[in-house]
Amino acid sequence: MPSSTLAKPKLAQQHPTWSGWVDSCDWVKTSPTGTLTLPANASEIMILALDPDVSVTQLARVTSRDQVLAARMLRLANSAYCAPLQEITTISEAVVRLGTASVRNVVLATCMASRLQSGNTYGAHGRGLAAHGIGTAFLAQLVARVAIVNQEEAFLYGLVHDMGKLLVLQLSKDYVRGGGKAPADDAVQAVIEARHAEFGGRVLREWRLPSVIEDPVIYHHRPDECRSHPLEAAVCYLADRLSHRYGFGCKAMPDLPVLDDPIAVRLGITEAWLQDLDTRAPELFKSAADAFA
Ligand SMILES: [Fe+2]
Ligand SMILES: [Fe+2]
Repeated sequence: MPSSTLAKPKLAQQHPTWSGWVDSCDWVKTSPTGTLTLPANASEIMILALDPDVSVTQLARVTSRDQVLAARMLRLANSAYCAPLQEITTISEAVVRLGTASVRNVVLATCMASRLQSGNTYGAHGRGLAAHGIGTAFLAQLVARVAIVNQEEAFLYGLVHDMGKLLVLQLSKDYVRGGGKAPADDAVQAVIEARHAEFGGRVLREWRLPSVIEDPVIYHHRPDECRSHPLEAAVCYLADRLSHRYGFGCKAMPDLPVLDDPIAVRLGITEAWLQDLDTRAPELFKSAADAFA
């Protein structure tokens, strides 16, 4: 939280309108609450989990310091989502069971869920966006399996694909904190529509996530334009569409065409696969959402 009252008028003086401030991208440096900053412990775990040489002991030690995170990790490791044969009772076992990439995913999902559900910033949007992120993460993993791309990465870009929406909501509050006039709701919505994918990529770059996560987020509404990770962008796009089909964190659109979509065809989605998902998705989503909530 900004303690200085001096900082407040400065932001509004430099940028007389909210949209001007948003367009300037100056908020990366001047936003009073930072760019959706992660708690220090979470960033430490993420960086460790991205290190291919990290040991289970190192990861377990850092994770155990955060009780909420530790409890969630145990719950997830024991959930139907992971289906362990025996009950997992220690963090080290949970790390082994989940794998380092999943630990990173749990950290991010937990941070996202707790930030979204607690603060005043996101209001009624927060809960929906958290559920939409978790549902899309789970679907991205399933689509990735069919498309033969990395499933852990798919979980991560599915989880954070609409992160830019949160950023825009946060920026609308931050501008007021910085002494500016509150933007109109429709102005905020217009920026969300037009720029959430691009801004989401910006947040992920700040978090130092690799481009294989950042690119699918930037291109999740126009995967055909993604040059560096086209397959991952297509997986993210389709997972988002499926998430809307089932109404994960949003209004269900059961008639949303999937099989006619050339991207679904390219990824190898078949009628039988979709029929199977239609029956299993709601229950599996509930299990994943319970584990993270
Ligand atoms: Fe989106
Ligand atoms: Fe979405």
